[in-house]
Amino acid sequence: MIIAIDGPAASGKGTLAKRIAAHFGLAWLDTGLLYRAVARDVLAAGGDLEDVQAATAAAKSVNADSLDDSALRGPRAGDAASIVAKIPEVRAALLEYQRAFARQAGGAVLDGRDIGTVVCPDAPVKIFVTASDEARAMRRFLEHQSRGDSITYDELLADIRKRDARDRGRSAAPMHAADDAVHLDTTALDADQAFAAALRLIELAS
Ligand code: C5P
Repeated sequence: MIIAIDGPAASGKGTLAKRIAAHFGLAWLDTGLLYRAVARDVLAAGGDLEDVQAATAAAKSVNADSLDDSALRGPRAGDAASIVAKIPEVRAALLEYQRAFARQAGGAVLDGRDIGTVVCPDAPVKIFVTASDEARAMRRFLEHQSRGDSITYDELLADIRKRDARDRGRSAAPMHAADDAVHLDTTALDADQAFAAALRLIELAS
């Protein structure tokens, strides 16, 4: 069983993917971490995020061990990730890793921007998770606040909007729902309600 979960920044798709994977005993890959790691490695080598050669080389050497890094989680890493994610060669270099992960025995849940459209177009279950810009910014704000970070709601809202525009507007694998994806709007749902709604969608689809 392969479950593809896509959606914009801070839509709650990661939390949802993790819970769905645990519920069905499936492996889970947060594919955003791959792009975040590529950006981190380019910057660590003193490179430029728009440099195709540097970013492609970083993408070719990304592996599972390099993804376990708390520095990958913040908004700056997400913004940097969306710059390297525009580069077709970077996307191509990360494709086989993601597809191999999806093919593993026992099945997998992958979340990202292009799982249902490019990485796993044949996935039997595809969910496109959305929420209003304001709801997404508020969720991120509360997360940051609980960690004592000083970033403001307005900064997070601007970051989310900028990143979504970049992810939707790029020519390589732009973010959009696959034609056969089901849409899940979590604006008015808490994490438990979103999970329950996703389980109902999965039962209907499989
Ligand atoms: O999901 P997350 O916010 O961690 O993703 C960071 C960035 O990586 C996204 O804004 C997007 O540009 C890129 N990404 C992508 N394709 C994916 C997953 C993430 O282009 N499948």
